[in-house]
Amino acid sequence: MTDPARTSEVTVGGDESSSPASTARRRDPVRSAAEDVVRLEQVSKIYPGTKTPAVDNIDLVIQPGEFYSLLGPSGSGKTTTLRMIAGFERPTAGRVFLGETEITRRPPYKRPIHTVFQSYALFPHLNVRQNVGYPLRMAGVGKGEIKSRVQEFLERVAVADFADRMPHQLSGGQRQRVALARALIAEPQLVLLDEPLGALDLKLRQEMQVVLQHIQREVGITFVYVTHDQGEALAMSDHIAIMADGRVHQIGTPQDVYSRPATPFVARFVGSTNLLDCTGTGAGRASAGSIDLEVADVPDTPTYSLSVRPEAIRLGGDADGCDNRLEGVVEEAIYQGSDIQLRIRVGEHLVKARGDVGSFGPGEKVAVGWNRADAVGIAPEAEPAAAK
Ligand SMILES: Nc1ncnc2c1ncn2[C@@H]1O[C@H](COP(=O)(O)OP(=O)(O)OP(=O)(O)O)[C@@H](O)[C@H]1O
Ligand SMILES: [Mg+2]
Repeated sequence: MTDPARTSEVTVGGDESSSPASTARRRDPVRSAAEDVVRLEQVSKIYPGTKTPAVDNIDLVIQPGEFYSLLGPSGSGKTTTLRMIAGFERPTAGRVFLGETEITRRPPYKRPIHTVFQSYALFPHLNVRQNVGYPLRMAGVGKGEIKSRVQEFLERVAVADFADRMPHQLSGGQRQRVALARALIAEPQLVLLDEPLGALDLKLRQEMQVVLQHIQREVGITFVYVTHDQGEALAMSDHIAIMADGRVHQIGTPQDVYSRPATPFVARFVGSTNLLDCTGTGAGRASAGSIDLEVADVPDTPTYSLSVRPEAIRLGGDADGCDNRLEGVVEEAIYQGSDIQLRIRVGEHLVKARGDVGSFGPGEKVAVGWNRADAVGIAPEAEPAAAK
């Protein structure tokens, strides 16, 4: 459990003195020193008593004012990376910079960074209103302004009805939103968020995604946002770093990582895809087991994985005229409300596709097609490396 007093350390502004939040609110160009790039250079972390690095030689560059997500499955090193930026963990190797200043060894309370941990620690002896107002009181903001700002933030995160309750009288999701309001109210230059919406149901999660994006864009706060939810990362981020086993597989915009996955892992993890093991058989041609394909955008290696998104697959009459047209049999049709998710046997492959409700059922023969331009080849041995 994280110590609440510790996690609520807030320094408003770029230097390490605190200044009234109202000043930070109107971003002054003179304060631009505050708006520093966060840079991790060849950072690794091996926890004492372990052999496998939790974080393995990563390079990240986070620009001021951007919404930057660390996306990866459980155990991929996201929290460890965040804790090294915050200063709660010290890298085993590598360096952390804020602007031109190296901060690798600087303790957390001397970094102008606010962290919201998954455990959303609140002060147990303060009610909701007092918890949210705390950073402003610390920054010496006047009572009247605190009152109105607190009310504004309580409303934004939809907890105004609980303003007089103590933390133990709230649900997990309500506590999480109070912690968010407290983190954002003083508008620190850099906020680290570790799965901040994890305790919320889908509807509230989506509402809070919009609220967070608004606050982030309005104030120009830099967000480093940890999530294992690829939909959330795609919807919210300016850039995403995709991690697995402590390594960064790809860094890019949501569009980059979705449409041009750098490794087979990224293709599978971000959205749903069909990955076919291909062997090149001549210019623009490949074989994937027993099927022959036309390909366009593929690496210059003898073998590679071809990623074809389910939404690129055309079915039945729509497959006519596609560069690739194959015969298949529906094995599975799962009703999803707006459409059906199909698994179609094509030779030894099971192809994922989407269909209109009521269009195809199990056992039915169906033509499966896609165009060359809708598939992207990925070198199988593609080394996980920061792509830019
Ligand atoms: N204090 C620790 N001591 C030893 N190993 C640790 C420690 N903290 C984390 N690890 C290990 O480091 C690896 C990365 O952990 P980390 O918490 O950074 O992952 P994560 O991506 O945040 O996962 P999750 O999505 O489950 O929160 C894991 O294998 C984990 O078991
Ligand atoms: Mg974690």
